[in-house]
Amino acid sequence: MINNPLDFSGKRVLITGASSGIGRACSILLSELGAKLVLNGRNLDSLKSTMSLLEGNGHVLAPFDMADTNGLCDWVKTLTKEYGYLDSFVHCAGIQITKPIRMFEKGFFDDTMHVNLASAMAISQGFRIKRDRSKQGSIVFVASIAGLIGQTGNTVYGASKAGLMSLTRGLSMELLRDNIRVNCVAPALVETDMAVRTKQSMTDAQYQHILNQHPMGVGEPKDVANAVAFLLSDAAKWINSVPLPVEGGYLAN
Ligand SMILES: NC(=O)c1ccc[n+]([C@@H]2O[C@H](COP(=O)([O-])OP(=O)(O)OC[C@H]3O[C@@H](n4cnc5c(N)ncnc54)[C@H](OP(=O)(O)O)[C@@H]3O)[C@@H](O)[C@H]2O)c1
Repeated sequence: MINNPLDFSGKRVLITGASSGIGRACSILLSELGAKLVLNGRNLDSLKSTMSLLEGNGHVLAPFDMADTNGLCDWVKTLTKEYGYLDSFVHCAGIQITKPIRMFEKGFFDDTMHVNLASAMAISQGFRIKRDRSKQGSIVFVASIAGLIGQTGNTVYGASKAGLMSLTRGLSMELLRDNIRVNCVAPALVETDMAVRTKQSMTDAQYQHILNQHPMGVGEPKDVANAVAFLLSDAAKWINSVPLPVEGGYLAN
């Protein structure tokens, strides 16, 4: 019998942002690989739509607002009480609002940092406390190439994603003694609702400029899900602290 390191049978995985785009693609793939999922987002109807696309059974819905960073640690502890220990989690939830510096205001900055960054720390805090330390745990954050490059009007979003990469490095060391690996993926433009909103926030010429920077075209959500599943799985059991670009050659261009 072949031991498949990408087999998630018997593993319970929390996925934030599961109601749409990359989070939905991760949910579908991980269910196909045998995982039992805890699906998070805010929109219950969209979460149910994701649920209807999954393989297997035993998946549950867990709506919660990632902006409530004070409540997140307890929320994760409640999840483990209700559904058993989590083996790993993928943090896909995120917001992107294009705003040049002349439109800067603190509320927008705080919202972005809470939903994209502080939430990752708070979920990790809850995950670390309530788990079976005899098994290796795994965390994957969904960052962005925006955290590696400069983009006009995308500075605050980029800072939140650069923060996620830094958090990946810090937590990968801090959680070693808890037997947890921490990695992240950094996608370029992927065809999701977020990309549609980004397109709507700029002129056709500006969007075309972004498309031209993708030598292999824009990505599909599944392209990111494949990388997430690998980093989350036992196939990556000796990979820690990695920010994996998933960007169709964007950075080489
Ligand atoms: N698409 C791209 O080009 C691209 C590129 C690089 C990185 N990313 C990153 O990939 C991740 C997924 O984005 P996507 O492209 O799949 O976008 P999307 O289709 O807009 O999905 C965003 C997800 O985040 C959830 N979310 C947003 N705010 C939330 C909140 N306050 N509480 C709970 N959930 C919240 C949404 O759930 P509800 O609507 O149900 O609340 C939704 O499931 C994000 O972190 C994004 O920054 C995307």
